[in-house]
Amino acid sequence: MTADTTFGSEWTGLRGRIMGWYLGSYLRRLSEVLVFGNIRSRVLIEVTEALKGEGAVLDVGAGAGYFSLAIASKLERGRVICLDLSREMLGHLRRTAQKKHLSDRIELLEGSAYQIRLDAGCMDVAISNGVLHELVRPQLVLQEMVRVVRPGGRVIVTDFRDTWLGRRIASAHRSEDHGPFGQQELRKLFLDVGLENIRVTAIRHFVIGVGTK
Ligand SMILES: C[S@@+](CC[C@H](N)C(=O)[O-])C[C@H]1O[C@@H](n2cnc3c(N)ncnc32)[C@H](O)[C@@H]1O
Repeated sequence: MTADTTFGSEWTGLRGRIMGWYLGSYLRRLSEVLVFGNIRSRVLIEVTEALKGEGAVLDVGAGAGYFSLAIASKLERGRVICLDLSREMLGHLRRTAQKKHLSDRIELLEGSAYQIRLDAGCMDVAISNGVLHELVRPQLVLQEMVRVVRPGGRVIVTDFRDTWLGRRIASAHRSEDHGPFGQQELRKLFLDVGLENIRVTAIRHFVIGVGTK
């Protein structure tokens, strides 16, 4: 196992606190809508369609909760499990959930996405945004997402696409990390882990993959 498959995140300490603020901020929302691509709205459509108001969602590498909290606010019943190995990120998430009165629908899970501490088949949906590009072995994490989703459940991955901007952002990480994804590459990854009904779409500098277990 490399360090990456255990605890190798750059999102801790001071950087974690600063990025935790940015990732949950209106500045991030604005940059996404104006520059990178409005990926969150697309993910929310996919999740709400899969859940119909209730269910269990896992957000892998949830960060400050940019996706988790938006999903939780759409749920009538159910919960969002927010997995991250950065305590700083989860601290931001917890505080924002309290402010937004969403704590009853949010569960924090500190740990590695390579070994998700959840039983097989216990989730209706697993999502991950902006995480796989900064992993050395993204396929292992995708396999874990598939494992914890029930048969018929949905797996949704969004990440930087291999555009000039996607490559630029990915180069801020470790050289051994995977980096941004091509559409065909993400499709193949979904096929390789046994997902079905696969849809892979480009949204400006992002790519979104959706599959059914
Ligand atoms: C770019 S941030 C994205 C956060 C969130 N998904 C969002 O869209 O705002 C990447 C997050 O993945 C987490 N992360 C990176 N590697 C991880 C791993 N192996 N296991 C769990 N979390 C990880 C980091 O701590 C960080 O919070």
